[in-house]
Amino acid sequence: MDAPMRAALTAMGGVDWCVTEFIRVTQSVLPTRTYQRLAPELEQQWKTASGTPLHVQFLGSDPEFLAANAVRAAKLGAKEIDLNFGCPAKAVNRHRGGAVLLEEPELLNTIVTAVRAAVPEPIKVTAKMRLGYLDKSLMLDCARALDEAGAARIVVHARTKAEGYRPPAHWHCIAQIADVVRAPVMANGEIWTVEDYLQCRRESGCNDVMLGRGLVARPDLALQIRTALLGEHQAPSSWDPIFAAVQVFYQHSLAQLNPTAAAGRLKSWLAHLRHTYPEASELYQQVRTQKVVAL
Ligand SMILES: Cc1cc2nc3c(=O)[nH]c(=O)nc-3n(C[C@H](O)[C@H](O)[C@H](O)COP(=O)(O)O)c2cc1C
Repeated sequence: MDAPMRAALTAMGGVDWCVTEFIRVTQSVLPTRTYQRLAPELEQQWKTASGTPLHVQFLGSDPEFLAANAVRAAKLGAKEIDLNFGCPAKAVNRHRGGAVLLEEPELLNTIVTAVRAAVPEPIKVTAKMRLGYLDKSLMLDCARALDEAGAARIVVHARTKAEGYRPPAHWHCIAQIADVVRAPVMANGEIWTVEDYLQCRRESGCNDVMLGRGLVARPDLALQIRTALLGEHQAPSSWDPIFAAVQVFYQHSLAQLNPTAAAGRLKSWLAHLRHTYPEASELYQQVRTQKVVAL
């Protein structure tokens, strides 16, 4: 997620940590200003305004330059470095980045080994993977490759690249992966409700999950899951705290973007929220045709 969304969603509570959008690494070490732009939280010890730690994520296939950027991020204070082996975007895969690397487990190993060796020991190097590129045949080889290279955690989005974002997520495959690696495994994909979380936990065996779109559509989802884990029931949030989060998001967006672009981001989030909150639907209808929005 980008910084405005991180500020808004972590303010809702229940989130242990969050990750930057992937930072694409090719044949260069990115300048400090790029890190400052993509991770402004680095000025606050890599924490969002509500104190939630932020990890940095890289995407690329060149072990040397990924390692060199990891060193730069570490010097800028990053505490955890995540490597993206899950992005399904054609433009990214065509340039040998993201999920296409799941066809080459030995390269995954080389990349994680290089990044691990380049940064000081206390900094964790972690990985995010899908179940494969076109099929799941290399799923366990990929997970072993990451694990043997020293990945401190593996987040598994339980679909192949070919499956895109089409439900279902194959949570049971995550259990097979967790069986063959030492690293802690986190489940990801299609968790929209507390019930989904509980079902995912049963099928994957993972207590810890990574939330994507579910948290965008229902900003109190992490908090609801955390409360459910304590054996308590938390009624879904009313619109007021969600609207407060929307305001945080919009203020941050306005600080970074021109007013029309910020309004576009606002509308796009409201479009997600309107499926859960009738008030969001109303607000969306009000601002839909406005180029500049005053909240
Ligand atoms: C618009 C969009 C952008 C994404 N960007 C990233 C990214 O930069 N890095 C990453 O690891 N995953 C990214 N993802 C994937 C999500 O992190 C997550 O793995 C995926 O959406 C499945 O989880 P969900 O069903 O909870 O959304 C992105 C997903 C979407 C829809």
